[in-house]
Amino acid sequence: RTLRIGLIPGDGIGKEVIPAGRRLLEALPSSLNLKFEFVDLKAGFETFEQTGAALPDKTVEILKTECDGALFGAVSSPSTAVKGYSSPIVALRKRLDLYANVRPVKSVMTAKNPIDMVIVRENTEDLYVKEEKTFDGPDGKVAEAIKRISYKASFRIAKMAGEIALRRQKIRDSGAPSIHKSPMVTVTHKSNVLSQTDGLFRATAREALADPRFKTVDVEEQIVDSMVYKLFRQPETYDVIVAPNLYGDILSDGAAALVGSLGLVPSANVGEGFAIGEPCHGSAPDIMGKNIANPIATLRSVALMLEFMDEEAAAAKIYAAVDGNLEEGKLLSPDLGGSATTTQVLEDILGRL
Ligand code: NAI
Ligand code: MG
Repeated sequence: RTLRIGLIPGDGIGKEVIPAGRRLLEALPSSLNLKFEFVDLKAGFETFEQTGAALPDKTVEILKTECDGALFGAVSSPSTAVKGYSSPIVALRKRLDLYANVRPVKSVMTAKNPIDMVIVRENTEDLYVKEEKTFDGPDGKVAEAIKRISYKASFRIAKMAGEIALRRQKIRDSGAPSIHKSPMVTVTHKSNVLSQTDGLFRATAREALADPRFKTVDVEEQIVDSMVYKLFRQPETYDVIVAPNLYGDILSDGAAALVGSLGLVPSANVGEGFAIGEPCHGSAPDIMGKNIANPIATLRSVALMLEFMDEEAAAAKIYAAVDGNLEEGKLLSPDLGGSATTTQVLEDILGRL
């Protein structure tokens, strides 16, 4: 099978970690029978300064018509608004209808308290429809925002969470070490207070996960505030968490803190039949150009992208090679207390493939 991958390095350390992702794909063992073709694509603040568009139409067109998947590095967003500029990754999610943000948070299994969870965040609606207004009330200014939850979006995100739970089990069954024995999905909401909006999310997620396909998946639910408490007290409990946009945003950044460095946490933006792997970190201007960025978040994002292309065996090999590097702990980048360069960490992981 030949897969065509769009490469969008973006700004800052994106230019250092995305080439590492490409080298990883090129180094996959030939026994997997996978070949890759690459297309270099532009987006980001530098692209905006050069061309006037942060996300050139050509980038979107090529992704849509030529690519099986893509890797996105990071973009620098100016801290004060710049006329005409808006985040290209947000625009890309919209234009390709990448309705899910998937973020695995995993420690090595030899850690003192190992964790292995994935947060599946709905990415198109909820409070982020950005329908806000401000008006004068009897006691002064009032601002309101719409929280929109739909059956369609809730159903498809819960279905995706169920599918991810089954796939994670498949990877475990193939011998990958894990703390979980069987698949579980936790539905997060606040329907005790927001009975209509979160109530719809909860009921729809339950309905989607009641499909016989998911009969081996244990479906639980949890109110979001107690979820935060438990996420920090007993993070090992969770396998797959599914949440509406806002709760998912907060939970996924919070969960990333459990594993020590942003340089370790991958994500994927996923729609029907298309996934873009993206490290969770930003463009890290403080360390750019020094060859010390941790490439692991990107390497894990490569594996996650491959999972969504049904290439679980390739993904499992990458996860194992990364875990091998982390467990041995000899070649770590500075964010993990080591002194290895980006290149050294990459070479060590390629060697383990
Ligand atoms: P950041 O994630 O770029 O950096 C935060 C801290 O973590 C920095 O000290 C950085 O050196 C460190 N760090 C991040 N990735 C690392 C890696 N792979 N290895 C080692 N250390 C790493 O967040 P920050 O500083 O708030 O934002 C910088 C720029 O990135 C801003 O312009 C911001 O808008 C943008 N950004 C872009 C994101 C995206 O493209 N999705 C996400 C977050 C921020
Ligand atoms: Mg966030």
